[in-house]
Amino acid sequence: MILRPKLWLKRIGLALAALAGILLLVGAAFTLYSLKAYQKTWDVPLPATRAVHDSAVIARGEYLVHGPAHCADCHAPDGAKQKMFRGEIVPLTGGTGEITFLGDWTAPNLTPDSATGLGALSDGEIARVIRTGVNREGRIALPFKDTYADMAEEDLVAILSYLRSLKPEPGVAPRKRINLLGKVTLAYFLTPYGPKHPPIRQQFRPDTTAAYGGYIANVIGRCESCHTPRNLKTGEFLGAPFSGGMPFKAHARPGMVYVTPNLTPDSTTGVMTLWSEEAFVQVMKRGAVFADSPMPWGSYRRMTETDLRALYRYLHSLAPVRRDNGPMVQTAKAFAGRANP
Ligand code: HEC
Ligand code: HEC
Repeated sequence: MILRPKLWLKRIGLALAALAGILLLVGAAFTLYSLKAYQKTWDVPLPATRAVHDSAVIARGEYLVHGPAHCADCHAPDGAKQKMFRGEIVPLTGGTGEITFLGDWTAPNLTPDSATGLGALSDGEIARVIRTGVNREGRIALPFKDTYADMAEEDLVAILSYLRSLKPEPGVAPRKRINLLGKVTLAYFLTPYGPKHPPIRQQFRPDTTAAYGGYIANVIGRCESCHTPRNLKTGEFLGAPFSGGMPFKAHARPGMVYVTPNLTPDSTTGVMTLWSEEAFVQVMKRGAVFADSPMPWGSYRRMTETDLRALYRYLHSLAPVRRDNGPMVQTAKAFAGRANP
């Protein structure tokens, strides 16, 4: 037998080329399919939640939207940021929204304007996006605000009633630019969410107990979602709740990141043991130290003393977790080099 290495090489080359061709075709088909599949809609029933005209309920809604629930933080125009920073009530005519690695979303006008706002939406449609993340088009709304899913029904009614009571004003319409990765993610990986616990239907009366503080920290104020280490691509929680360690790009300080501190009452690595209850109330009422901090300080500083004391008591009721996240402002390089548990 005569060995013909050249011929074999040629055959291997051809086989590899064919394989590459097939992979390319599969890739192209997958991409084309995803471009269509991301448009799928979810058949999620509309909640029976309805707005009311009771002025006490509307006042509670105003407090939540501009305070602990910090809806204004995303849904107010950029021009109102300074006012919000000072803890003032700002218009809810829509904001620049979110720039994520999946694409860009505006946070639309929440006033009852029918062209750009919520005028054309039913009460059920507004309640559904808050409870399940399914928007007016029946598609998944980003960013995930899944902690709101567990909001007490009374508070959802209050928020809805407040939004309905606003004067209609023109503003930012819903608009998204979803990139390929976003389309693939929406097509295959994201599903509507729902309450993790049975919906809290009874009156959830604010008081200074740790239990009420837990409701603010976990559901209304979403403290946990930033003060817990997470996978930045999937949102998956990677460490003990409230132990901090999430980085955020500091827009006003190139090369730097803000890192969330550990909010568990650990005496060496946590911040909560630095403060008495009085001092913590002052820290939260003071507002932001860093003007470009991602934390919605402007909304939180509007919180009542009752709510802040409840928050303090809740955070102090957690089991201490030893986790050193380094300084709250550090270089991105130093953060990447940290060996976190
Ligand atoms: C972190 C920023 C952020 C916060 C906080 C936030 N939103 Fe949004 N909201 C968005 C973005 C972005 C969209 C657009 C999502 C979409 O259109 O898919 C949106 C969409 C909406 C919509 C319209 C959904 C639709 O059908 O088009 C409503 C209503 C809404 N938000 C209400 C609220 C309320 C009420 C709160 C507070 C309890 C709140 N949002 C807090 C960013 C935010
Ligand atoms: C969107 C992300 C985000 C959310 C939500 C958030 N935080 Fe923060 N927090 C940060 C970041 C980033 C820092 C560090 C930079 C700074 O201090 O502004 C921080 C810092 C802090 C500090 C330290 C302040 C100081 O001066 O030492 C406390 C206390 C705190 N957060 C409490 C809370 C509480 C309580 C909540 C919920 C009511 C909350 N945070 C929600 C991102 C967040």
